[in-house]
Amino acid sequence: MNKKTVRDIDVKGKKVLVRCDFNVPQDENLNITDNRRIVGALETIKYLLDNSAKVILCSHLGRPKGQVKPEFSLAPVAKELSRLLGKEVKLAGDIIGESAKELVNNIKEGEAILLENVRFDKREEENDPEFSKELASLAEIYVNDAFGTAHRAHASTAGVAAYLPAVSGFLIEKELKFLGEALNNPKRPFVAIMGGKKVSDKIEVIEKLLEKVDTLMIVGAMEYTFFKAQGHSVGNSICEEDKLELANSLMEKAKEKGVKFMLPVDTKVGKEFDKDTESKVVKTTEMPEGWIGLDIGPETVELYSKELENAATVLWNGPAGLSEFEQFAFGTNSIANKLANINAVTVIGGGDSAAAVEKAGVADKMTHISTGGGASLEYLEGKLLPGIECLDEVEK
Ligand code: 3PG
Repeated sequence: MNKKTVRDIDVKGKKVLVRCDFNVPQDENLNITDNRRIVGALETIKYLLDNSAKVILCSHLGRPKGQVKPEFSLAPVAKELSRLLGKEVKLAGDIIGESAKELVNNIKEGEAILLENVRFDKREEENDPEFSKELASLAEIYVNDAFGTAHRAHASTAGVAAYLPAVSGFLIEKELKFLGEALNNPKRPFVAIMGGKKVSDKIEVIEKLLEKVDTLMIVGAMEYTFFKAQGHSVGNSICEEDKLELANSLMEKAKEKGVKFMLPVDTKVGKEFDKDTESKVVKTTEMPEGWIGLDIGPETVELYSKELENAATVLWNGPAGLSEFEQFAFGTNSIANKLANINAVTVIGGGDSAAAVEKAGVADKMTHISTGGGASLEYLEGKLLPGIECLDEVEK
């Protein structure tokens, strides 16, 4: 990475504004159900505290659309951060108002406070220069460690960098190292597993990966668009009728590039989108009318597992089926468990696949689990991320 990191600056006694991605899932009682993004930010926060900085943390949570809404407050995050750090992290009652300023003026070296949800002000998502300036006026240094939000050009993720020395935190550094190495310097054979609902969400990443991988495995509902494109019936499965040509051209491109393009050979179909629906396993070329494809089948798992045994690098993005329903979670769980038991660099591209390896209890067996869903996809597509582009370059 050609960007400066917190290691490159002196933070002692300085007020440091740190943008994190604390956009964590919560249950109906606002309890945090997955704290990985908070844990992911700890290394940078601890480093700053240990080096006597005055740490001002900020983040968004959800999409409150510029309005102050209590259900989007960062209060649960402040509580979890305090628990994880073993010291209190006070939450300001606002972002750049009286409450924030008072807390900021009273922070001591080695202490951290948290500003309220930056999306409570609509100027955040507008990347408003005045709002960026006001945020910047709270601090002397800006650190971006919000990899999960690095694809957004918002005031706290990009705009603010114009007014302060701006460097990256360790999480962004680590994400770029693992995703970048997988993409640009992979140990071979390099296998990518692409899943999820729609081909259209993944077109650019699939196109990019076809330039890089040895094998591309398709899983998840997007497979049915490929089958339909080959002239097979897909029953009532999700299928993007307007993407059939595109699906064919992706398969054509794989052939041209000499990439092994693997599609499932069997599928578990259900009568309805329901957790208890009647289900059965069928060949993907013999999908029954009226049924919906909701998971990959056991033969596919076996076939893919064999291929994965020889892989030296695996990149996985997107579930293999409707894994929130137990009877259709077999494919996703099998991939997670297989990746835990092979001798390869395993990089999980955030979002649902990251949740799946966590749920399967094999997260610690993966080389890297990205904290970015959309951000990791855009990075893999080869796009520049505004939250990283805005940071200061290392002097040559
Ligand atoms: C995410 O969860 O992908 C990031 O926190 C970005 O959130 P957003 O899609 O609401 O901008």
